Amino acid sequence: MILNKYFIEPELEISHLKRYNASYIRKEFIIEKKIKKATLIITSCGIFHGYINGIKVDNQLLLPKFTQYDKRLFYFTYDITDKLTDGANVIAALVGDGWYRGDVGWYTGRYRNIYGTKIKLMAMVTLEYEDSTVETFHTDESWKASQDGPHRKNSLVCGEFYDARYEMDGWNLAGFDDSAWHNVLPSEHTGALVPEEGEKVLEQERYKPKLIITPLGEKVLDFGQNLAGYVEFKVKGKAGQRVKLIHGERLDKDGNFFLPPKDARSKYQSLSYTLKDGVQTFKPYFSYNGFQYVWLKNWPGEVNPDDFTSIAIYSDLPQLGTFTCSNPLVNQFVNNARWSQKSNFVDIPTDCPTRERAGWTGDIGLYCETACYFMDTYDFLKKWLKDVALQQFENGCIPSVVPYMKYPHFMDGSSGWADAAVIVPMRLYHMYGKIEILENQYECMKKWIDFSISRAKKCAKENRDNQNPYLNYLLDQGYHWGEWLEPGADAWGDIYRNRKTADSEVATAYFSYTTGLFAEASRILGKDDVAYYENIAKLAAKAYRWQYIEIEGGVQSPRQCRYIRPIALKVTTDEQRKVLASELNDMLIQNDYMLNTGYLSTCWLLPVLTENGYAETAYKTYLNESPGAWMSHILNGATSIWEQWDGVSSRNHYGFGAVVGWLFKYVAGIQPLEAGFQKVLIKPYPSTQLNDIDAVYNSVAGKIHVKWSIAGNEFTLDLETPVSTIVILPDGEELQVEKGTYTFTSKL
Ligand code: BGC
Repeated sequence: MILNKYFIEPELEISHLKRYNASYIRKEFIIEKKIKKATLIITSCGIFHGYINGIKVDNQLLLPKFTQYDKRLFYFTYDITDKLTDGANVIAALVGDGWYRGDVGWYTGRYRNIYGTKIKLMAMVTLEYEDSTVETFHTDESWKASQDGPHRKNSLVCGEFYDARYEMDGWNLAGFDDSAWHNVLPSEHTGALVPEEGEKVLEQERYKPKLIITPLGEKVLDFGQNLAGYVEFKVKGKAGQRVKLIHGERLDKDGNFFLPPKDARSKYQSLSYTLKDGVQTFKPYFSYNGFQYVWLKNWPGEVNPDDFTSIAIYSDLPQLGTFTCSNPLVNQFVNNARWSQKSNFVDIPTDCPTRERAGWTGDIGLYCETACYFMDTYDFLKKWLKDVALQQFENGCIPSVVPYMKYPHFMDGSSGWADAAVIVPMRLYHMYGKIEILENQYECMKKWIDFSISRAKKCAKENRDNQNPYLNYLLDQGYHWGEWLEPGADAWGDIYRNRKTADSEVATAYFSYTTGLFAEASRILGKDDVAYYENIAKLAAKAYRWQYIEIEGGVQSPRQCRYIRPIALKVTTDEQRKVLASELNDMLIQNDYMLNTGYLSTCWLLPVLTENGYAETAYKTYLNESPGAWMSHILNGATSIWEQWDGVSSRNHYGFGAVVGWLFKYVAGIQPLEAGFQKVLIKPYPSTQLNDIDAVYNSVAGKIHVKWSIAGNEFTLDLETPVSTIVILPDGEELQVEKGTYTFTSKL
């Protein structure tokens, strides 16, 4: 496409090693005739802010969004008619590093220049005059640039260095003297340029802080909510004074500001601001942080909390679901999960907004269904799934992180992670009923499954003498994260072990499950490969059963995941399912309702118990307040979902928050009976452990409202449903109702 040739490079020289000043770019042009319509097409390699006569062209943040840039880069189209004036006009842009060449990845090993070493801008203006003539111009060598503005360094993750003494008043207005600026260099961009997709990242909630003076004497602001975003502040002082804001998620055990490990600090989320004279306000242009607390360094004079506001930023997804109940801890938990979703839905689904901000496949794979109950994730995840397909390797393997962030390739293709390539489209289909997502992703899903089939056919060294009659379907190749982060687990030890020996228990279960899901997708799409893949799913389930259940005469393990996984991923016989569910229930009772699951099985624990007749155990496990249980995080003041049960690592990972899906699906009992809730199932599993609940889900078919309460042995359900619905009451009575509002009673 011709637009690919209109890129320019604003920097004359760069060194690949350092961080750079942001680039200020401008072009003045004259309008001599009456304008009927004016249009701007713009994008960048980096992050851009575009202006016409000093007015921002968009309130979206982090443009051009994050895609697999070498494969596709979004461009943005604006009607700028109202922003133009007769005579001299200016189009301007401020461009920084962003994901394109900025710091990305794990904070001890951040990488730069992933997609390129040079930031670039492309803009094209089309002027349609009232006399029906049309003029266009675009970025070329006549545009001018400067790197001598106030943004001395910028990094999406590590933060910004801003020196207000370098501000260039009027730089994006007509009449500004740019004689000291240089002309830009012509450039090109390879890779498709496509119109923007997904949702807009916008500024959202705002919070005022409390000031804390810590035992070490640090001045720390507590904004009360852990979120992804930044701080807007007002400061008064003298030119040259430098203040620093360091963003963090918590205080340490002594109440001092908590910093990540020493070797990571220089790569942490901080903002350095050098003052000009007088009163001034600032908020970041090129960075955001995961934080609740901010440590202020070198603040001039008294700290007035009113001078600070934290601003959450996240993709502006329509909110669909709410859940409240008689237990305030549960309500806080639901709130926290929603916040972790907001904080990790910043253009792509990430693991956390602090340490990595990476599009880890597994995280969204296990959280996707819950995400769909909270918000309309369709456009957001459709965009991300396209990048999954674009980034898929030739052999069908799915990368661990999408878009690419230079994570080591040994992690690619992990079961439970890469399977998101099938799980996410299928969840979207069930929740929203749009076949388009399966059509879009079909080839990608198929290639992944075929890759898994070919991997399973190989045999690992340790299995050469294995008598498993279904050995060709036992997946014992590749790296798999395994259950991951079980309480007390040695994460580094697990990585080492998993690299040496494939965790075929996890891998084979997922192989069967995901192949089954894919067969379902094929059936929905009317493909002729359904029977073939269904059969593979069955054979893999047999391989699993022989290896991990039958040979031992059952599951012999203190790990709850070993009972949950085969049931959840449907690899057991019916008889085995009953036995394993009963054993799981016994284990939880003996364990005082403490779970010991990690990343993969936690989301399935309560659904498995509930569906198999152990709802009371599910409730007790969820409401457990002992250290390391779900509610203990709330009692410890959590305002988002923690990555690990002991809370030592990230405090904003949505994984363990997937249990909110259980609240919607089983406690409120709202489920799609047909894709997209064209038919609804209402099957609540009440317990006297909660007095009442109130859940709303605005499905694509309309509003579903479930309210239930318990008085003695009486259960009352108030239901509003938009479509034909099957209601199953706790006493087993089954009713069919049409659109309307109803009240039902039942014995518990
Ligand atoms: C991330 C996880 C991710 C994982 C892979 C972590 O560092 O934060 O959420 O899925 O790596 O195990």
